[in-house]
Amino acid sequence: MTKQPPSNAIVWHQATITRQHREALNNHRSSILWFTGLSGAGKSTLAHATEERLHQMGCRTFVLDGDNVRHGLCADLGFSDQDRIENIRRVGEMAKLFIEAGVIVLTAFISPFQADRARVRSLVTEADFLEIHCDCALEVCEGRDVKGLYRRARMGEIKNFTGISSPYEPPVNPELRVNTSELSLQASVDQVIELLKVRGIIKDF
Ligand code: ADX
Repeated sequence: MTKQPPSNAIVWHQATITRQHREALNNHRSSILWFTGLSGAGKSTLAHATEERLHQMGCRTFVLDGDNVRHGLCADLGFSDQDRIENIRRVGEMAKLFIEAGVIVLTAFISPFQADRARVRSLVTEADFLEIHCDCALEVCEGRDVKGLYRRARMGEIKNFTGISSPYEPPVNPELRVNTSELSLQASVDQVIELLKVRGIIKDF
């Protein structure tokens, strides 16, 4: 751990161009679309398909994806509870920067713990954080096993695997619950886009 400077030695620099300026330029509000769910529940697929739709509508977007972020910013982290907590803390702080940048940021992380998601929510204003549960039964995710990880977790090759040997706490009151085992991808995207319109993040183009 690098030694931290005393807190009175760091002074916040006030930007002249603010989130409001950027949002006005973009013609939409910024927000965090926080996709959570089991591995294989379709978080990344839905986040990227939603991004495509928003991009076509002329919105500024960016996807932060668990598997990708763990190659860089969070490459030093594993899957212990402590490491997952730190993973979500970093992603939350990053998502907050995207809010300031005027962007609609879509995050696709298992984010298994309710308390960590609540902590990210508390970083921004209530209207900025939309929790989207990609709700897909473990049996369905395991049946798909797109990456072959469930099989390896069952064989004990991968430790602390979410749903098998590590817990997943589903959101109690998410802004949206998408049944990704039954809905088509396009129907799922429609639900997210509708939520953004209802919440006034994007306009009805
Ligand atoms: S989180 O729990 O910290 O939010 P994150 O979304 O970044 O997890 O990473 C999950 C991805 O890492 C999974 O989609 C899967 O591909 C891979 N993975 C590797 N090991 C594990 C594990 N033990 N538990 C869950 N996912 C794992």
